[in-house]
Amino acid sequence: MFITVTANPMVEHLFPVADLSSSNRHRPDRAWTFATGKGLNVARALKDLGEDVVAVMAVGGRRGREIVERVEAEGIRSRIVPVRGENRAGATIFHEGEHTTIYGPGPTIEDGDAEALIATVRSLLPARAIVIAGSVTHPTLYRRLASLGAPLALDFCHPCFDECMRIGNVLVAKPNRRELGFMYGIDDPIEGARRLHDQGARWAVVTDGAGPAIFRSGDVIRRVEPLPIRPVHPIGCGDALLAGLLHAMPRGPEQAVAFAMACGAHNAARPEVAHLEPAACHALARKVKMTVVSG
Ligand SMILES: Nc1ncnc2c1ncn2[C@@H]1O[C@H](COP(=O)(O)OP(=O)(O)OP(=O)(O)O)[C@@H](O)[C@H]1O
Ligand SMILES: [Mg+2]
Repeated sequence: MFITVTANPMVEHLFPVADLSSSNRHRPDRAWTFATGKGLNVARALKDLGEDVVAVMAVGGRRGREIVERVEAEGIRSRIVPVRGENRAGATIFHEGEHTTIYGPGPTIEDGDAEALIATVRSLLPARAIVIAGSVTHPTLYRRLASLGAPLALDFCHPCFDECMRIGNVLVAKPNRRELGFMYGIDDPIEGARRLHDQGARWAVVTDGAGPAIFRSGDVIRRVEPLPIRPVHPIGCGDALLAGLLHAMPRGPEQAVAFAMACGAHNAARPEVAHLEPAACHALARKVKMTVVSG
């Protein structure tokens, strides 16, 4: 079983708008709404891939109720930690791979909420991995989750990332290139993957949207070209990729890398957020090209 933690979920509305401009009215004839947040996105993708996954989420207010309703309607198993305040509302406007997001404020996670989230995760252990992903306001929540001893998949951008790397049993570390620069001051993805590997990550992955991604497992570094797709929007691509990697890991590194990239590309080519069709992902995985590079 996998556990995902979402400390800051939201109700996200996605609108296709070709000619976004300020001081204007836009009336797209289609729209999508999802309960999102990185952990929750990974849970959706893992569930679509047939994995046993539980999404642990901090929820509050009316939007919290909507998030729970949507997650239940999708059949994603979840554990709810009620918090004071209201979960975020978000809007994403997209067109041919370009996107603009507006993500509103979320509730404050109090110490008691952090305790409840940790206790909930602990009650679900053992797990194949705890996915700690997305934004967090509580200063010690992620560090304490990282010290539970379970294998970790880390995908967030916060000053505590480095500490989680040092104390945790890290199965996957997956920042994107921008986050790597922000947290480590490293621009080169191969250099970044080396740093994450040296800190103990069994899989160090640095993605770069439509640019090549770097996967390091053990001493092998693979540079992987993105699949040629017609991009819709990139929201959830990293989450889909992480889910694909976790799912396909038992099939060996090369297959896992190919499947992960396929899941990312599949997501980029669709308006849904981290909603995967396994057959389409398997078909794409056969087309992935990678080279082993020296670090
Ligand atoms: N335009 C694209 N074309 C092909 N593949 C893409 C494209 N955008 C994203 N991907 C795939 O998705 C993967 C992850 O994308 P990206 O680096 O944008 O993740 P991310 O920034 O972590 O996303 P998020 O955090 O929003 O989920 C890429 O490595 C690639 O495999
Ligand atoms: Mg990401």
